[in-house]
Amino acid sequence: MTETFAKDVDEGLSASPKRLSAQYFYDDNGSRIFQQIMAMPEYYLTDCEREILQTRSREILAALGFSGHFNVIELGTGDGSKTRELLSGFIDAGADVTYVPIDISAAAIEALTGQMASELPGLTINPQVGDYFEIMDKVEAQEDCPNLVLFLGANIGNYAETDAIELLQHVGDHMRSGDRLLVGFDLQKNPAVIHRAYDDPHGITRQFNLNLLARINKELAGEFKLDQFGFFCCYEPSSGEVTSYLVSQCDQEVYIGAIDRTISFGRDELIFTELSQKHTLTQIEQLGRAAGFEFFAHFPDRKKYFSDSLFRKP
Ligand code: AVI
Repeated sequence: MTETFAKDVDEGLSASPKRLSAQYFYDDNGSRIFQQIMAMPEYYLTDCEREILQTRSREILAALGFSGHFNVIELGTGDGSKTRELLSGFIDAGADVTYVPIDISAAAIEALTGQMASELPGLTINPQVGDYFEIMDKVEAQEDCPNLVLFLGANIGNYAETDAIELLQHVGDHMRSGDRLLVGFDLQKNPAVIHRAYDDPHGITRQFNLNLLARINKELAGEFKLDQFGFFCCYEPSSGEVTSYLVSQCDQEVYIGAIDRTISFGRDELIFTELSQKHTLTQIEQLGRAAGFEFFAHFPDRKKYFSDSLFRKP
C-alpha cells in the first residue's frame, strides 16, 4: 500500500499539471473529516440520499421485482446510517434479505456490522473484507439467489466518464443476469447550491484536501508546510464538474523522503485533487447503458437534487 501511494505521489507530482489522487483522502483522519463534511448543512448530498432511502425503500423493493431471498451487496461501507434506512424499509415490507457489506478496511466493516446488528436485529449480515470483485464472485457461488448491488453516496462522480463506465462495466462483469444495481448520483442543479457544498464556509473541505499533504508527511516522510498551501474549487455548470485543487502560496521546494525527491512548486501552482461530477438524468441513463446495463428507474429526492438510479444486468 505504502509503495503504491509513493509511486502515485511521485507520478502525480511529476505530471503537468500536478495532481494527487482523491482515493488517498481516506486515511483515518481523512475519513473523520469526511464525516464532518457529511454533517455540514451545505453538503446536501447525504441528507438527500438519506431521504430517498428512507421514504422510497418500498418503491425500490417493488421495482426490484425479486421474490424470495436476495442479497444486498454494498460496495464500500459508506455511511451505514443511509443503507440502514433502505434495509429497514425492506425488512418492514417482509423482504427476506441478507446484507453483504464489502470494504477493504476490517475496522470499517467491524464497526458497521456491530451498529447494523444492534439497530436492525432481524437482519442477516454477511460482512466481507477484501476486493469487491473477488467477493462478489464468492457470494454468488455460495447461493443461487438474485443480488442487488449498491454503489451509493455519489462515489461514481469521483470518476471521469470513461473511468466511470469502465468501473460499472467491471461491476457488471461480476453480476448475474437479472441482478440489479442501484447507484447514487448527484444531479446538476442551481450552481450556487453545488458551489457552497464544496467551497464551504467552515473550511472543512479545505482541511480535507490539506490532509492529503499531511498524509504524505506522515506516511512518506514528506516535508510539506501545510500553511503554505491553500484550497480552491469551482463548479462549471456547462460540464457539471466540480474540480478541486491545492494551491501553492509561494515559490517553494518540498522534499519527500520515501521517494527521495525534492518537488518544486511555483507561486499559485495548482495540484489537482478531485473531480466531483454532477449528472443529468439523461446522462445517468446513457452511462448505465454504455456500461452494459438496462436502465430501470430513477429515484430522486423531493428537491430533485440527487438520484439513486436503478439498473438491471441483462
Ligand atoms: C465521496 N465523494 C462522493 C465526495 C464528493 O462529493 O465528491 C467527496 C467530497 N469531496 C469534497 N467533499 C466531499
